[in-house]
Amino acid sequence: MTRFIPALFLVLFLPFVAIAEEIDDDDVDLYNGKDVNVVCAACHGELGQGGNKGEYPRLAGQMRSILLRQLRSFRDRTRINIPMLPYTEERELSKEDMIDVASYLSSLRIDVTIPYVEGDVKKGKQLFKDCRQCHGKEGRGKEKVAKSDKHGPALTGQYPSYLIRQMSNFKKGVRHHEDMEETAKDITDAELNDILAYLVTLERHPGLAEEVAKQTEKMFGKVLNSLSETIKASGAK
Ligand code: HEC
Ligand code: HEC
Repeated sequence: MTRFIPALFLVLFLPFVAIAEEIDDDDVDLYNGKDVNVVCAACHGELGQGGNKGEYPRLAGQMRSILLRQLRSFRDRTRINIPMLPYTEERELSKEDMIDVASYLSSLRIDVTIPYVEGDVKKGKQLFKDCRQCHGKEGRGKEKVAKSDKHGPALTGQYPSYLIRQMSNFKKGVRHHEDMEETAKDITDAELNDILAYLVTLERHPGLAEEVAKQTEKMFGKVLNSLSETIKASGAK
C-alpha cells in the first residue's frame, strides 16, 4: 500500500507547484515594496491609484499575479510599452523588488472614483456574461487556483479609457494573451462601451478585487495593519 503514497503525492503536488508562483510569502517585504513604489508613483500615483484619466492605469488592489505578468511582459518586450520599459529592466527592478512592489500594490485597498460611462447598462450586463468565467462575477478578477482554471484581471474599478485602449491593443496584436484573442476579435467598440457602462454601476469597492483583499489579508495581515498606519501617518487617503 505504502508504495502508492509517493505517486499520489506527486500527482496532487505537481500541478500546484506548476501554478503557484515561485514566491515564498515569508520572503516578501511590503516595506521594500512601498519604497520601490516611490519611482512608480510619479506616473501611477502614491497609492497606485492611477491617473491622467486612465493614461496611467490603477494598480492598487489588482491581483498580484496579473501585475507580475505585466511587469515581466514589459521587461521581455512581449507587451510593448515605451514609458514602462526602463522601469522594468533588471538593473532598475530586481526580481525581488518586482515581487515586493507587486505585492504591496496588490494589498492596497483604496477608493478610486472611476469616470462614468454612458451606454446601455442592461445590454452591457448581458454581454458581460461572456467575460465572467475569467474576470469574475462582477468583474473583480479571478485567480487561477487549478491548472485548468480560467483567470483574468479585475476590470471593475479600473479606468474605462485604459480598458478600451487595452482591448484595442489586443485587437492590433500589440498585446497578447491567448485567452483574450477570441474576445478581442469578436467584440465591437459599442459592445465594449456597454460592458464598461455596466461595470461602473457596480457597487464601489475599496479594492479592485474582493478575493485579492481576502488573500492579502491572510498573507500579510499584521504588516498590512502597520502599513496602513504609516499611510495614515503620511496623510494620504
Ligand atoms: C513614466 C511613467 C511610468 C512609470 C514611472 C511607471 N509606469 Fe507603469 N505604466 C505606465 C503606462 C503609460 C502604462 C500603461 C501602458 C499601456 O497603455 O499599455 C503602465 C502600465 C503598468 C502596468 C500594467 C497594468 C495593467 O493592469 O495592465 C503595471 C503592472 C505597471 N505599469 C507597474 C509599474 C510599476 C511597478 C512601476 C514602478 C517600478 C511603474 N509601473 C512605473 C507608465 C509608467
Ligand atoms: C478565457 C478567459 C477570458 C475571457 C472569456 C475574457 N477575458 Fe479578458 N482577459 C483575460 C486575461 C487572462 C487577461 C490578462 C491578459 C494579460 O495578462 O496580458 C485579460 C485582460 C483583459 C483586459 C485588459 C485588462 C487590463 O487590466 O489590462 C480587458 C479590457 C479585458 N480582458 C476585457 C474582457 C471582456 C470585456 C471580456 C468579455 C467580452 C473578456 N475580457 C473575456 C481572460 C479572459
